[in-house]
Amino acid sequence: MPEVLVSNLKKKISADQGEDLLGALYRAGIEIESYCGGMGSCGKCVVIIQEGSVSPPNSLEEKHLKEKIKSGFRLACQVKVGGDLSVDISPSYSAKLEVKLEAQTEAAKGELPVKREKFVLSKPPIGKTVSLQDQMEEVLALTQIGQVSWSQQSLLGLSRIAGQKEQSFEAVFDPAKVRWVCPFSGEKDFLGMAFDLGTTTIAGELVDLTSGVSLFRSGALNRQARYGADVISRLRAIQDDPANLARLQELVIKTMDDLIEEACEKTGHDPERIFALSVAGNTIMEHIFLGASPLSIGVAPYTPVFLRERLLDGKELNLSINPEAQVYVFPSIAGYVGGDIVSGLAAYDMMGKKGVTLYVDVGTNGEIVLLDGEKVYCCGTAAGPAFEGAQIYQGTRATLGAISAVEFKDNQLRIFTIGDVSPRGICGTGLIDSLACLVQEKLITPTGRLRGDNSHLKERLREGDKRKFFILSEDPEIVLTQEDISQLQLAKAALQAGREILLKEAQLKEKDIEEVILAGAFGSFINPKSAQIIGLIPRAPRVRSVGNASLLGAKKALLSLEFRRKVSELAQKANYIELSSWSDFQDHFYQSLIFEV
Ligand code: FES
Repeated sequence: MPEVLVSNLKKKISADQGEDLLGALYRAGIEIESYCGGMGSCGKCVVIIQEGSVSPPNSLEEKHLKEKIKSGFRLACQVKVGGDLSVDISPSYSAKLEVKLEAQTEAAKGELPVKREKFVLSKPPIGKTVSLQDQMEEVLALTQIGQVSWSQQSLLGLSRIAGQKEQSFEAVFDPAKVRWVCPFSGEKDFLGMAFDLGTTTIAGELVDLTSGVSLFRSGALNRQARYGADVISRLRAIQDDPANLARLQELVIKTMDDLIEEACEKTGHDPERIFALSVAGNTIMEHIFLGASPLSIGVAPYTPVFLRERLLDGKELNLSINPEAQVYVFPSIAGYVGGDIVSGLAAYDMMGKKGVTLYVDVGTNGEIVLLDGEKVYCCGTAAGPAFEGAQIYQGTRATLGAISAVEFKDNQLRIFTIGDVSPRGICGTGLIDSLACLVQEKLITPTGRLRGDNSHLKERLREGDKRKFFILSEDPEIVLTQEDISQLQLAKAALQAGREILLKEAQLKEKDIEEVILAGAFGSFINPKSAQIIGLIPRAPRVRSVGNASLLGAKKALLSLEFRRKVSELAQKANYIELSSWSDFQDHFYQSLIFEV
C-alpha cells in the first residue's frame, strides 16, 4: 500500500493504489478545501506534489492551474496515487475548523423530556405477587400515563437487583418508555448533548440535564464535506451511487461522535452517561442522519420522506452515547426549510411576537421567514455557495488567513484576516464587505459591472488575463474578480427576491419590517450595514444577530417538554411558500440583481 508523506503536517498516511489523493487525505482525517465533491470543477483542492508517482495532469487541472502545473501544483481530487509520494497541502489546508460559538442565552429548564430518578423498592408481603416492573411503574407514576414500554436493558437491569436486601435503582425514562435501569451507584452525571447539524459544520453542546448548565461547546467541519459543499452535492452523490447514503450517514455520525468524545474528554465525563440527544438540521441533513433517502427532495415537487419530529434510541444510530438514550430529531416545515430553522425560531420565541420580523439564515440554501404575530411565512432560496467562498476565484472557508472583514475609512482600504495573519483568500463576510465597499465607492454600476471612474480606489481596479478585478491585497495578491461579483450578485438576488415574495404573500411592504434577525453561524458574523448596502437584508430599524439559534433551540429541547410542544406547533402552523410556483419569481429575481449605487 503506497505511503503518502504530508510534508507540511509531518504526517504519513496510507493510500490505496490508484485512489484519488483527496479521498486518501479525508480518510486520514485531513481536511482540505473541496467544494465540488471531487468533480474537478471548483479548483479549490490545490496541493503541491513534491516527489513520487502520480497520474499525469488532466484537462481539468490544466484549466484551473495553468502554468502552476510546472511547479508541481495539482488538484488532489484528480491525482491518482501510483506509489509512495510526498505532498505539501498548505495551499488548501483548512487546519482544524474554528467554529466560532457565540455567547448564548441560557435555556430555562421545564419538565424534562427525559428524566432520571433514584428509587427504592420495598419487598411485597408473601402471598401477593407484584412484579418489580409493576412496582416500579407505580413509584415512577408511569401507571397514570398508560401503556409504557420497557427497553430490554431496563428489564435486565431490574433483574440485577431482584432479591437483594437494598433494592435501590437508578432509572432513566421518558413519558413512553423506561429506557435504562441500573442498581444505584451514587453516580451523579445525567447528561444530554444538543446538535446543530449543518451542511458545512456541525456544532455540539454538552449539557448537564440536572442543572441545565452547558458544560462544553464546540464545532467541527462536517466530514461529509468530502462529497461537496452544499446539500445538492450530497444529493448528487447519492444519486450517482445509492451506497453513498450509508457512507454519508456514517460520516455525519462520525463527526458527531468526534464532538461527543471531545466534550466528554475535556470535561471528564463518561459518554455512557449521555441519555438524551437533540438534533436540529436542514431537512436533507436530517434525512441522511436517519439513513432515509433525501432524493425526493431534490426534484419537483420536492417531497420529503418525513417532516414530523422523530424519537429514536441511541443504539439505532450507533452513536457513542448510552445505547438506550433518547434521540430527538426536530420537525421540519418543508424540503428546504428544515428543523434547524424551526429550532431557531422556537428558541427565540418568534411566533406570536408583536410587530413584523424577518428571520434570515444565509447559506447555500438561504432560508427566510417572515413573522407577523401568529402568522409565519417561509421559503428556501437557492442562493448557491458563493457566500461560503465556493465559485469565488480566491474564495475560502472562514479559517486561518481568510479575509473576514474589509473597510474603507479615511481614504484607506483596510482588510482584516482571521488570526491576523497574511491573507490567503477571502471568506463570505469579507466578500459581503468588499461588495459593499464597491457599491458605496461607486466602483460598480447598478448592474454589477466594475468601473474605474471617479473613486479614491480606482487605482485598485486592474485588468489582466482577460478579466477585470479589484485588488484587496497586493502582497500576497488577493483579488475580487468581475465573475466573483456576478456570483455574489446572483446569491443576493435570490435572497432578495425570496423576501419580496413572502412580503407579497403576507400583504406587507418592506417598510413594515421592524426587525431583521440574522441567524446561523455565518449570519452572526456578517456586518449588517454591509448586508443592507448590497440589498441582502432590508434597511429595517433594528438588525440583530442571534448566532447559532438552532443549537440554542436544540439545547432547549433537551431541557423542556413544553418547548418541544411549541416546536411542533410552529412547524405545523408555518405557511411554506414554494417560490418556483410563483409565476413572477423570475421578474423579482432579475430586478433584485440591481444594486442601489
Ligand atoms: S476541484 Fe477538487 S474538490 Fe473541487
